[in-house]
Amino acid sequence: MWQQKWVLGNWKMNGRQYANQALLTELSQSANENPHVYSGIAVPAVYTAQALACAAGSALAIGVQDVSRFADDGAFTGEISAAMFADIGVAFALIGHSERRQYFQEDNAVLVQKLRHCQAAQLLPVLCVGETLDQREAGQAEAVVAAQLALLADLSWQHVAIAYEPVWAIGTGKIPTTAQIAQMHGFIYRQILSLCGEDVKIRVLYGGSVNATNAAEILAVDHVDGALVGGASLHADSFAAIIQAACAPLPKS
Ligand code: PGA
Repeated sequence: MWQQKWVLGNWKMNGRQYANQALLTELSQSANENPHVYSGIAVPAVYTAQALACAAGSALAIGVQDVSRFADDGAFTGEISAAMFADIGVAFALIGHSERRQYFQEDNAVLVQKLRHCQAAQLLPVLCVGETLDQREAGQAEAVVAAQLALLADLSWQHVAIAYEPVWAIGTGKIPTTAQIAQMHGFIYRQILSLCGEDVKIRVLYGGSVNATNAAEILAVDHVDGALVGGASLHADSFAAIIQAACAPLPKS
């Protein structure tokens, strides 16, 4: 898995029971047809049990979009812990998605707790990082991402999964140039190696307006180990095409 390309979907706050069933069945099929790609879907928490049942026995991993910053059972109304998700068979959790940072003011202090709880529960965290357009235009993209990655130093890691998602590319149809992606992914690799040691296994996914048309080109960029896909993961055919693209990346130029 740490040598494979990953294609993870993020449904965000979308889905209804009836439609999920058909979509998950098709996504499971695509995952099975492409066993060399690690494929997964982060579903809304309320649908995790349905997704797990639907994907049971298939190669499709089921993930969630967040976990509680609290680890232990107790009086935390409305919260769901990493341990609870792990308990029912959830494989991975997105941590620090830009929408969590934007709407819920999540910062490194909260995110390090969430990462710690995922580690303790053996739930694979995928830490999302990325700069805003203003930050990029001000020449601060690498500094912003470095600050977001800094929390990795507080924990010890054998495996690190990061999704680089420029905020301005999420849901906008705008994507960085392949040169910009290559530069940032190379930078993220170097940061992780210096924070976590040379032996750490790394996957750095690109996210932000990945679709069936642009996936092959993005997935062929140096240090792009996969994709985190929002809108296009809500459609079986586009998600299948992205998994396909991850199977056969374009030759590197
Ligand atoms: P998008 O979302 O593919 O719809 O741009 C990506 C994400 O937010 O993970």
